[in-house]
Amino acid sequence: MSDVVFITGTSSGMGRASAELLATKGFVVYAGTRDTKAFEENKNSNLIPIKLDLTSQKSIDEAVKEIVKNHKKIDILVNNAGYGLVSTVEDVSEQEMLHQYDINVFGVLRVCKSVIPIMREQKSGIIINISSFLGRIGLPLLALYNSSKYAVEGITDSLRYELKDFNIRVHSIMPGFFDTKFARQNLVVNVKTFDETSPYKELVSNLAPTIVEQINNGNSANEVAQMILDIIQNPNFHAHETVGDKAKKFIPMKKELSDEDFERRVMEYYNL
Ligand SMILES: NC(=O)c1ccc[n+]([C@@H]2O[C@H](COP(=O)([O-])OP(=O)(O)OC[C@H]3O[C@@H](n4cnc5c(N)ncnc54)[C@H](OP(=O)(O)O)[C@@H]3O)[C@@H](O)[C@H]2O)c1
Repeated sequence: MSDVVFITGTSSGMGRASAELLATKGFVVYAGTRDTKAFEENKNSNLIPIKLDLTSQKSIDEAVKEIVKNHKKIDILVNNAGYGLVSTVEDVSEQEMLHQYDINVFGVLRVCKSVIPIMREQKSGIIINISSFLGRIGLPLLALYNSSKYAVEGITDSLRYELKDFNIRVHSIMPGFFDTKFARQNLVVNVKTFDETSPYKELVSNLAPTIVEQINNGNSANEVAQMILDIIQNPNFHAHETVGDKAKKFIPMKKELSDEDFERRVMEYYNL
């Protein structure tokens, strides 16, 4: 019987590339999405779009119930959905702040809450969380996004202990910058931070275009899809793995240098 995979945030980017690769490899893939229309061209019968609202436990539970009704199991969960809020901390609105965490952090927890009992009872499972190299590194204007990814790293570390006795493996992938719809469609900017009169104007005009340019010229989402396949196939895969040029540059540097030296290197690199 084919392994059953549930992936969140699959209308584009890494989620889409992973869903397509795994379906091609014979996995039954449930592609969680707000936008099932994005799959109208889909010709692979192993790739099944499923409606998913990450802000609603009910919506998530219904999707999980549907998968279990059809296949009696979920072997692999990939928590991929996420977006980036670009805002200074002083400008961020209550709503922006809560929504960033609602999708990037609470969304991950809600899906885990729903899927873990299934994996626990079947005594096997793999959970792969897509965090970011920014889940280990701070940057100005990205405190909300980066801290949400630090949280995903923390969830991964804690769940590894919590679930090991049930034969459930938990991993995170920390991508560098990748050319997906992330900067083209899913970066949300705070209007005050980006206003001409903002005291952060110089920082915004230096850093924001550089980050967008680096994302849009980043690695291919197919590399993340391949890494997900590698994790599934290798029971001894690392707890956390980097993929993409920026992650491979900064994460080892962070491990090697003192906090202050690392900060200096980041400031030099981004002209901060
Ligand atoms: N691109 C990068 O440089 C980069 C680097 C490091 C980490 N990441 C992380 O990698 C993951 C995938 O991103 P990607 O680069 O593939 O970007 P993407 O093409 O923008 O895809 C992100 C997916 O997340 C879902 N999503 C976005 N905003 C959402 C919202 N407000 N509510 C619910 N779902 C939402 C969407 O799924 P549906 O439309 O199907 O619902 C979308 O397909 C994200 O967690 C991102 O933070 C990206």
